Amino acid sequence: MRKQAAILQEMGYTLWQLRQSTPEHGEQPQPPVPAEKPSMPESPAPKAGILDSAAKSALSGTASDRRAETIATLDWAALTEAIQECHACGLCARRRQAVPGIGDRTADWLFVGEGPGAEEDAKGEPFVGQAGKLLDNMLAAIGLRRDHNVYIANAVKCRPEGNRTPSAEEMAACRPFLLRQIALVAPKLIVLLGKSSVHSVLKDDRSLSALRKKPLSFGAIPVVVTYHPAYLLRNLPEKAKTWEDLCRAREIFRESEAHPLLE
Ligand code: URA
Repeated sequence: MRKQAAILQEMGYTLWQLRQSTPEHGEQPQPPVPAEKPSMPESPAPKAGILDSAAKSALSGTASDRRAETIATLDWAALTEAIQECHACGLCARRRQAVPGIGDRTADWLFVGEGPGAEEDAKGEPFVGQAGKLLDNMLAAIGLRRDHNVYIANAVKCRPEGNRTPSAEEMAACRPFLLRQIALVAPKLIVLLGKSSVHSVLKDDRSLSALRKKPLSFGAIPVVVTYHPAYLLRNLPEKAKTWEDLCRAREIFRESEAHPLLE
């Protein structure tokens, strides 16, 4: 018990309100294909092409190849604009604004959540609500800060009404944006927070408990799977497991620093 109490203290445990799930689905208007835009000089160039094969195989053979292929060419400015103007699924109908992502665009660490809630929809920034406070504490527990060497994105960029879990179709419509963010950031490690991000990035629907200790990767980038902060707010015992996962992520990162990939 003492160990768990120490872990919880370190992770700044506070009892916050839960996200709710509702079953409604929005209608799905046809996606406009974003115009291809030239690279903007102020955007950092993508890091070396370690994602090429993963990104290519993820993009081939889907129904929206052309749209996905166009998105895969966008620089940061064009990508942000395409996300903000996206009408590829029904989530756009009720959003106040799309929430592209936040953080260091050259970060070594990428954290991926599910989708914006009410506060994120209002502010245009991921993880600013109660789950965000816990995420900040989780980052602090392993010596990270959201504005330093960390980028935070979501599986879907628009708020699902009632904070329900996004549908597979909504995640598929948003996936090219997430893949492009991964390619542009080119992190050294990806931490997937909850089932939706695992579904979206890895296309794997196994349970988190089956996946969390497995050696996983997206292309050449190691992936660590753990529980979503909103889930942790209502499932106290899983916080200790998340602490283990974060420590494992830190070890994998240190290992990758000690033995960098040859590019
Ligand atoms: N939950 C998420 O998955 N993402 C956010 O941005 C906020 C809450």
